[in-house]
Amino acid sequence: MGKVCVIGSLNMDLSIMTTKMPQAGETVMGSDFQMLPGGKGLNQAIAAARLGSEVSLIGAIGADAFGQALQAFLQTEKLACTGLQIHPEVATGTATIILEQGENRIIIYPGANATVTPEVVRTQRTLVQASDIIVAQLEIPQASIEVAFQIAKSAQKVTIFNPAPIQKVSETLWTVVDILVVNESECQQLTGIQVSTFGDAEQAIAKLRLLGIKQIVITLGGNGVYFHDGNHCEFRPAQKVPVVDTTGAGDTFIGALASAISEKMAFSQAVEYAIQASALAVTKRGAATAIPTQTEVMEFMQP
Ligand code: RIB
Repeated sequence: MGKVCVIGSLNMDLSIMTTKMPQAGETVMGSDFQMLPGGKGLNQAIAAARLGSEVSLIGAIGADAFGQALQAFLQTEKLACTGLQIHPEVATGTATIILEQGENRIIIYPGANATVTPEVVRTQRTLVQASDIIVAQLEIPQASIEVAFQIAKSAQKVTIFNPAPIQKVSETLWTVVDILVVNESECQQLTGIQVSTFGDAEQAIAKLRLLGIKQIVITLGGNGVYFHDGNHCEFRPAQKVPVVDTTGAGDTFIGALASAISEKMAFSQAVEYAIQASALAVTKRGAATAIPTQTEVMEFMQP
């Protein structure tokens, strides 16, 4: 069983559906309000765990009602939470999510996620060193990810970076990234290229490879993904499925990719597996709650 360590955010997702996005100064009615476990770190860790990897999660929550609810949820899943700090004085992170026809708009309140400092990461170095794949996003301080990836690279481990929400990334962090996963808007902000065609993807990937990254995936939601496996660029379409909620679909993709790579699957096969897992995730409500199990993905992949 491959070992995956995810360092990242845990949020309580405050999710509501609407048929009409409010304009400035406007109030609209919503429906199906739910408080659900989320955070890119938690979602990616749950995805890798449900898909069969041995997973550890490094992050932080507050000692409040949201933190307790996230802990209770994590206890029902098969992953190690010894790297989870419970901060007595800071609130648990939240994500306010508005869904319009399944598409999400999200505002993050970092809360305890901001307390995952480089010092905290250093205290958890053995979790990083004991894993095959280390995964991180940008909902915790960037300096902490740099430290985690440096520890990982010193121990010859593979790093997967998902720069979301996008911000300027330091040159030193790029030097310790092996696999980069970005969506269309993150790709555009990093490269200045709006990816619509295979040629656009090739150009954007060429720019990103100049940063020294070997393998790159550009996710296009329901349209599929472009990727470079280290040798060449390819496109893979997504499965058409009924969309209920897209929240966390990208996280499912990344957790599945990490899990498959930790099992030594070829990169193109790992991408295909991740596409199928994330297609299933959009058919259900919520982020972590919608992530499929390995059996569900296998059944879905049957011809
Ligand atoms: O990627 C989806 C996640 O982004 C949500 O679960 C929310 O918490 C935010 O972190």
